[in-house]
Amino acid sequence: ETGYVTLDTGFVNTASCTSEITYIDGDAGILRYRGYPIEELAEKSSFLEVSYLLINGELPTPEQLTEFQDKITNHTLLHERFRSFFNGFPSSAHPMAVVSSAIGALSTYYPDSLDPFDPEQVDLASIRLLAKLPTIAAYAYKTSVGQPLLYPDNTLGYVENFLRMTFGLPTEKFEVDPEVAKVLDMLFILHADHEQNCSTSTVRLVGSSHANLYASVSAGVNALWGPLHGGANQAVLEMLEKIHADGGDVKAFVNKVKNKEDGVKLMGFGHRVYRNYDPRAAVVKKATRKVLDTMGVNDPMLDLAMQLEEVALTDDYFVQRKLYPNVDFYTGIIYKAMGFPVNAFTVLFALGRLPGWIAQWREMINDPATKIGRPRQIYVGSPERHYPA
Ligand code: SDX
Repeated sequence: ETGYVTLDTGFVNTASCTSEITYIDGDAGILRYRGYPIEELAEKSSFLEVSYLLINGELPTPEQLTEFQDKITNHTLLHERFRSFFNGFPSSAHPMAVVSSAIGALSTYYPDSLDPFDPEQVDLASIRLLAKLPTIAAYAYKTSVGQPLLYPDNTLGYVENFLRMTFGLPTEKFEVDPEVAKVLDMLFILHADHEQNCSTSTVRLVGSSHANLYASVSAGVNALWGPLHGGANQAVLEMLEKIHADGGDVKAFVNKVKNKEDGVKLMGFGHRVYRNYDPRAAVVKKATRKVLDTMGVNDPMLDLAMQLEEVALTDDYFVQRKLYPNVDFYTGIIYKAMGFPVNAFTVLFALGRLPGWIAQWREMINDPATKIGRPRQIYVGSPERHYPA
């Protein structure tokens, strides 16, 4: 059922593992972080509070949260030499390539936080990643549009700082829209962890060789990039824009998917675990209309997405295969309304997923049962044969 052959590999963290972090009931459409329902956290918590919860297992006291936020704020700057790293990429570079490279490169600046078995070094690497990923993500965008890199403004909140570094200019004052910041914070919460998905399993697998946290997270970013995984939020918008360009005939597109023409899939639909509506998609769908109305944006892609959902949810092909909207189906419409380019959508997914990767890597590295990831195989190749005399 999991799609893996669970052999006695001795490495519980490859094919399946025990974890205390996230609970999913795919049939009931339930998602909880450390026991808290995602709907409650999305409504009442903040992304940094949820990050603390995922990593430490408990919600922080107000003092603990303040200390956690202050530590992150103090590490938002990149080394001055690191800024020139971004000049090495063509402006056409996909930001996921820039971000995964930059995260891996962080280990060259911070040899004091590479030891996976020194709790202080692991805490330092965790804080540095949470603090610097928004700066790296903003610089990847600025590089692609040929604009100057803004230093972080530590008087701002976590998401506000990211939005200002992304969309601000040194030539003018940038006012962060509090509504946009609040919705983006909520979207980061929804993406923060999702048990043993492809990218998280990658982070665990790489870390199981005792590679440092920067290297493991960099690998996770690359796994997330794939259009079947985190890259789906970009692929959904591209799919909707193509349907729109072809005249908006939703039924014709659904028929192409059902006939599996050119391998086309309904991006943003289906899931390895959810055989019900992804609870995150329900929260995002509700927020999408509200965000567009608040921002005065009238995007035909939203109506198209809702038509597509309506057709698919009543069509036997999708119903029989239990295919429902997943977290990626509506998020891109909000990101586009916020002004992000389509190729930056998956970077936003990575920003949200970072605390989950960190929490899962720490759980794996601290688990005495963990051995190096070494999945076995069932050999189905040629029997022994000999080289011609
Ligand atoms: C994420 O794992 C996680 O937790 C991931 C994630 C997270 O938070 O980390 O939730 C984030 O990655 C969400 C998924 C984003 N990807 C997409 O939206 C891409 C489109 N979705 C599919 O590619 C697909 O649904 C997968 C990859 C997500 C799941 O693939 P599976 O496990 O192969 O799907 P399945 O076994 O359930 O498929 C059963 C049938 C097959 O057809 P038949 O062979 O029975 O004829 O359903 C078909 C599939 O071809 N199918 C689809 C489809 N998804 C499955 N057909 C059309 N459109 C789709 N989207």
